[in-house]
Amino acid sequence: MVYKRIIRPLIFYWSRDDPEKAHELGIKFLYYMGKYEIIADLIEKLITVKDRRLEAEVWGLIFRNPLALAAGFDKDGIARYGIQSLGVGFEVIGSFTQHEQPGNIRPRTKRFPEDKAIINRMGFNNPGSDNAALELANKRKLSVPLGISLGKSLKTPIENAVEDYLYSLRKLYLCGDFFIVNISSPNTLNLRELQKKEYLKNILIRLQEEIEALTEQYGTKKPLLIKIAPDLTEEELDDILDICLELEIDGIVAVNTTTSREGLSAPTHEEGGLSGKPLWPKAIRMVRYIDTYTKSQIPIIAVGGISTPEQAREMLEIESVKLIKLFTAFAFEGPFIIRKINEGILKQT
Ligand SMILES: Cc1cc2nc3c(=O)[nH]c(=O)nc-3n(C[C@H](O)[C@H](O)[C@H](O)COP(=O)(O)O)c2cc1C
Repeated sequence: MVYKRIIRPLIFYWSRDDPEKAHELGIKFLYYMGKYEIIADLIEKLITVKDRRLEAEVWGLIFRNPLALAAGFDKDGIARYGIQSLGVGFEVIGSFTQHEQPGNIRPRTKRFPEDKAIINRMGFNNPGSDNAALELANKRKLSVPLGISLGKSLKTPIENAVEDYLYSLRKLYLCGDFFIVNISSPNTLNLRELQKKEYLKNILIRLQEEIEALTEQYGTKKPLLIKIAPDLTEEELDDILDICLELEIDGIVAVNTTTSREGLSAPTHEEGGLSGKPLWPKAIRMVRYIDTYTKSQIPIIAVGGISTPEQAREMLEIESVKLIKLFTAFAFEGPFIIRKINEGILKQT
């Protein structure tokens, strides 16, 4: 109530020319909250919904509940302790690329409050995987599983994409509990080409081989997932799913932002990927399709337009869906959305 009536209007007004300012403020707040362990623990105890019915076990990892903030929220991984205090069941940080990069010129996000949507063209602004590894190394471990999203540096040509992913995987292997190969951001030139079977199979084979080598070296095997776009044709999606089945990929994150503008109440020339409410119909349709096509054999992390307990429930009722993530709803509904959705899921069970 206080967030929606007072805090949100103030923050939205202050950041009207560059909504990323609001995001930065949120990250700063979560960073400081997480920095002081006693405060973070106390808030976590107060906010987290604890109930065995929410728990999930996937890839041998235990999740206290199925909900997380999606990749791109904590791009640098610096707010992870604060985010944990909000009661999430797991976290995903990044996407990290081999090279540090600033991303596109600001402003590069736009809010559409009447449609509960955002268009972003961030372009993988991130500290690079060397710096990310420094940030993550030798710090206190999160009490929830940590996923690390891997992207491709803008300056790496598409033919060498796999080297970029491999570099980050090696650098960050010991820092995360599972890895997501992001081949579906619309904001890095040609990145989505990597979803084509000619590229995809090779990339996944090379990454799997590397994981095998790293498993031998460190004695711990980490799951590998891919994140896909909602704008694939049925044929392209079938190809991807065939490859995932053949290679026994550990999981699929569906979906990334869309290049479609369907569901927005007014036309816009804003470039980038659309997220939030308009994405929901595409996300649920695609997740259902994947579940049917793969005969529920591949675990899915569902993401795209989720903002209510009913939507969360609808996703979780699909057999392959083990976990869910959200991003845009956090911007519109505020920090208690994790608690609200977890409570709502319980009410419906
Ligand atoms: C500002 C912004 C930045 C994002 N950055 C990333 C990213 O770095 N990597 C990634 O895999 N997805 C990124 N995403 C996509 C989200 O992870 C998510 O897939 C998408 O927003 C759909 O979920 P939502 O409708 O709940 O926001 C970003 C989304 C937004 C709005």
